[in-house]
Amino acid sequence: MRTGIDGLGLAVPSLCIDLETLAKARGVAPAKYLDGLGTWRMGIAPVDEDTVTLAARAGNMALESTGTREDEIGLLIVGTETAVDHSKPVASFVQGLLGIGRNCRVFETKHACYGGTAGLMMALDWIRSGSARGKKALVVCSDIARYGLKTAGEPTQGAGAVALVVSENPRLVELDPSQSGQYAIDVHDFWRPLYSKDAHVDGHYSVQCYLDALSGAYRHFQQLVPGVRASDCAALAYHVPYGKMARKAHRQVRAMDGDENPDASFDVQVGASLVLPAQVGNIYTGSLYLALASLLATSVKNLDGQQLGLFSYGSGSCAEYFVGTVVPGAQERVHALGLQAMLDRRRVLSFDEYEQVMKAREELDVRPIEQAVADDFRFLGVDAHRRTYVSPEA
Ligand code: HMG
Repeated sequence: MRTGIDGLGLAVPSLCIDLETLAKARGVAPAKYLDGLGTWRMGIAPVDEDTVTLAARAGNMALESTGTREDEIGLLIVGTETAVDHSKPVASFVQGLLGIGRNCRVFETKHACYGGTAGLMMALDWIRSGSARGKKALVVCSDIARYGLKTAGEPTQGAGAVALVVSENPRLVELDPSQSGQYAIDVHDFWRPLYSKDAHVDGHYSVQCYLDALSGAYRHFQQLVPGVRASDCAALAYHVPYGKMARKAHRQVRAMDGDENPDASFDVQVGASLVLPAQVGNIYTGSLYLALASLLATSVKNLDGQQLGLFSYGSGSCAEYFVGTVVPGAQERVHALGLQAMLDRRRVLSFDEYEQVMKAREELDVRPIEQAVADDFRFLGVDAHRRTYVSPEA
C-alpha cells in the first residue's frame, strides 16, 4: 500500500519582526542573529490569533488544496506544545471550526516539537493497518514559540501551523513508517512548567541534546534500513529551531556517513528547506514540515521520484529520522500554494509594537470577548472560562 502526505496547508500569523530590528534594540550585532543563527524574520501572533486559529487556517488550506471533504476525515490529530487548555484538546476546537464529521477520532498529541511527527506516524500506521477503511487523516502541527523577552531564546521565537492530509496514494511525499529510526532519552534541555507561558531552556545543552538524538536516531535507522544513507538522498530536511541548527545537524549526519567536508553538500541538499523557516522562526511541531514545504516550494532541482531524508526532534526528548519519496508533480502542487506570497503579506512590526504585542499576550487567557470582523479564523476572547472563536463562514 502506498501511503504518505497528500497535501499540506500553512498558516502564519499576520505580524512579524525583522531580527535586525530586534538585534539593534537589544544591543546585539545583527550578524549574530542573521548569520550566527541563520534567521532573519520571525512570526508574531496578535491577540486574536492563537494555536487554535493557526491550526484551523492551516487545516482549512490543506483540505481545500487537496479537494478533501470534511466527512472524508476519519482521524484528526493536532500536535502542539502550546495548547490552550489542560483538558480540551486544540483538535476539538479545530473539528468545530472546520466542520469535520462526527465519526472521527479527534485528539491532541504532545511531545515538545516531536508531537506532530508522533501524529503523522500514527496516521500512517492507522491507514496501513486497514482501520482507516478508505478515510484520510488530518494531522495539524500548530504552535506559538515564546521565550522571555531579553533572554537568549528571544531571537528563536516564531509562530505558525502546518497541516498535512495523510492518505493512500499520496500526491506529495510517499512515506513508509517502518523506514524510520527513533531515539528517546529523558533529558531537561527545554521545558515549560504548567505555571509558565514562557519556555525554559538550557540553550547550549539543548543543541547538544538535539545532535545526540540525531546520531541515535540515524544509527537506529541504519540498523533497520541498511544501505540507505543520508548522503545519497536528493535533499534533507531537519527540525529547524533556527537555520544554523540545520547546518550543525547536516555536519553531524554527513560525518556519520564518512564525509570529511559536509559543508560542501549543504546548499545542494539542505538550502531550499531553509528559505521559508528563515522568515518564520521556530514553529516547534510544524518546523520540520515547514522545512519540507520550503524544499518542495523552492528547490530548483527536479525532485520527482527522489528520496528525501527527514529528521524530527522534540526536546525532552524524542527524535526520528525517516525517509520519503517525492511523488512526481509534488513540487508544482506546493509551488501553486503561494507560500512565499503568504509570508510577504504579513505586517512587519517596529520594535515598540513588538513589545506591546508580546505584553498584550500576557492577558490572553482572560481576554474578554470582543467583536471581530469574521474575515478569518479568530480568537474572540474568554466567556465563563470558555474560549470563543469565529470562523470566516460564520
Ligand atoms: P547564545 O548564547 O545567545 O548564542 O544562544 P551563541 O553565543 O551560542 O551564538 C550563536 C551563534 O552565533 C554561534 O554560532 C556564534 O558563533 C554566532 P555557532 O558557534 O553555534 O556556529 N555569532 C555570530 N555570528 C556572526 N556574527 C556575529 C556573531 N556573534 C555570535 N557577530 C541559542 C544561542 C540557540 C542557545 C539560544 O538562542 C537559545 O537558547 N535558543 C532556544 C533553544 C534552541 O533553539 N535550541 C535548539 C536545539 S533544541 C530544539 O531544537 C528543540 C526546540 O525546538 C523545542 C522543542 O522541541 O519543543 C527548541
